Amino acid sequence: MKRFHVTTFGCQMNEHDSERMKGMLTSLGYEEVERREQADLILFNTCSIRENADNRFISHLGEAKRLKGEDPARVVGVGGCWAQSVKEEVFRRFPFVDVAFGPGQIHRLAEFLNSDSITAQGYFEFEEFAGDLPANRARPFQGWLQISQGCNCVCTYCIVPSTRGREQSRDPSLLVEEVERLAADGVREVTLLGQNVNSYGRDLPSASRIRFSDLLRRIDSVEGIERIRYTSPHPKDMREDVIEAHAELPALCEHIHLPLQSGSSTILKKMRRTYDRERYLDRVAMIRERIPDCGLTTDIIVGFPGETDRDFRQTLEVVDRVGYDGAFTFGYSPRRGTAAADMDGQVPHPVKKERMAELVDLVQERARERAQRFVGRSMEVLVEGPSRSDPTRLRGRSRHNKAVNFEGAAEPGKLVEVEIEAATSQTLSGNERLLSGIGA
Ligand code: 5AD
Ligand code: SF4
Repeated sequence: MKRFHVTTFGCQMNEHDSERMKGMLTSLGYEEVERREQADLILFNTCSIRENADNRFISHLGEAKRLKGEDPARVVGVGGCWAQSVKEEVFRRFPFVDVAFGPGQIHRLAEFLNSDSITAQGYFEFEEFAGDLPANRARPFQGWLQISQGCNCVCTYCIVPSTRGREQSRDPSLLVEEVERLAADGVREVTLLGQNVNSYGRDLPSASRIRFSDLLRRIDSVEGIERIRYTSPHPKDMREDVIEAHAELPALCEHIHLPLQSGSSTILKKMRRTYDRERYLDRVAMIRERIPDCGLTTDIIVGFPGETDRDFRQTLEVVDRVGYDGAFTFGYSPRRGTAAADMDGQVPHPVKKERMAELVDLVQERARERAQRFVGRSMEVLVEGPSRSDPTRLRGRSRHNKAVNFEGAAEPGKLVEVEIEAATSQTLSGNERLLSGIGA
């Protein structure tokens, strides 16, 4: 039996692609192994979002080169966004690579493995989503659902539109069938994936065209699905109907990840985000009004070209006003082929570092304050397994997407009530509530 090893970098879309890659390889008779040196087929699913993502992956490639040197029959494959961004250049720079393919083109890997080709092959055409591949899920009770691929936005810092192509929504009936299959297979929490979920459906033929909120409604009615999440929405397209859906649909979780990127309208314009600070704050106000307890998280870039100290203060001000439950913060990283990489006013590294430290402090302070609202409450937690820091305790997630460490005895995949006793900026902790009236 042939053995494979996959290393995944990047976002949830890549995680999902890797699960599908593993599913496909299992169906071809391959077996997954834990260590790279045990594998006949060494795969990397790469990311190119920031420079450090590139660097991390390239240091791993060195080991693959050594292993290939020891046994030339080994196959080395590189998929995902980095591969797409360099295309054929990958074979010149890394001659030991046998096959390279763009994101979502996992079926091409199968084609390569089933062919007698002994020369390196690259697959970089954008194609339809291959929806019929099985996925080996990391947790049996959580599943991904890719609702669209590609992105029609033109954010000037972002490499994704060039690595994932134009936006294509998948047919809603196929998506609902896929969720029904997942539910029948034990999935209780499903996460919908798209680069901009709010524009879902706009490119569909009129006979099957539905809005994102309609899709949420259809998935909410699937028996067995207790939690629905999605990532990421875009503030420019986040409309009332989606916020309304959160208030109405029992399975749709009280958490929205709404990428801010910058709190300065001048910088947002240079980023070509097509919303300004007021529009963003207006979305937040609408969310707070309709879903008062909603968890809100975000992505922020510091040191975008031309960002002045005043622009940066405006970002801090938005963070302070919104009070996020958490935020991913990134130093701006110039990416090949993007408009911002050639802009004037690149911010020096030490300035980025200083701004980043100040931002992270504020994010954490506000997150810690926000988290106190959960103390003393009983919250529904989906059990994931033992806690990472203390394996005698359990770990799970609340509907607000907070990690919860707790004392309890429930099996992974169960929904339990946890009494929250303490909260930090990152995690909640407490005790599983034992239901009284046993046997009732
Ligand atoms: N530099 C820094 N951060 C970036 N992001 C995307 N492109 C860049 C870049 N060139 C961040 C954005 C996005 C998140 C996934 O990564 O905040 O929302
Ligand atoms: Fe995901 Fe973007 Fe990285 Fe591609 S470049 S893997 S879309 S985070």
